[in-house]
Amino acid sequence: MSTISTKDPQGSECAGCNDELYAQIDNVIDLYKGKEGSLIQILHLAQEINGFLPEELQRHIASALDMPFSEVSGVVTFYSFFSTKPRGKYTVRVCMGTACYVRGGKKIVEGLIDKLGVDIGETTEDGLFTLEIARCIGACGLAPAMMIDDIVFKQVNVNTLGSILGEYRKG
Ligand code: FES
Repeated sequence: MSTISTKDPQGSECAGCNDELYAQIDNVIDLYKGKEGSLIQILHLAQEINGFLPEELQRHIASALDMPFSEVSGVVTFYSFFSTKPRGKYTVRVCMGTACYVRGGKKIVEGLIDKLGVDIGETTEDGLFTLEIARCIGACGLAPAMMIDDIVFKQVNVNTLGSILGEYRKG
């Protein structure tokens, strides 16, 4: 069993660390350490547990796996499904595949940037929405399309964005 530490490598208390979350992540590390492809698997599960992968958590994982921090951060940076910032409760993905782009996908992105007040890749201040771009999401015949988590919205237009987001804001 590896030692659970909420201290950074310099020994100072790490702000925002949560002992219980780190204990869960250490269990994951113990489970996968030494196995092939363990780093990606551990990062996946750590993100599931913590919601995102801040630098202090990446350092913790690097130290527990006896590997350089640069190797861990390199993997986190390379794969778009890893996030180093807190994510919103809902992920809004606008399709910018060819069919959606041709049928106004760019206007949908601009409309969402305007309505959410964030840029692509950012999360709204209330923590509700993270805005992202997707490639084809399999609804080309009814483009432009977007997704909120697993729900696909087809033939979206800028005028309907407010009511779609409103439903999620209501919870
Ligand atoms: S290109 Fe957008 S759903 Fe296929």
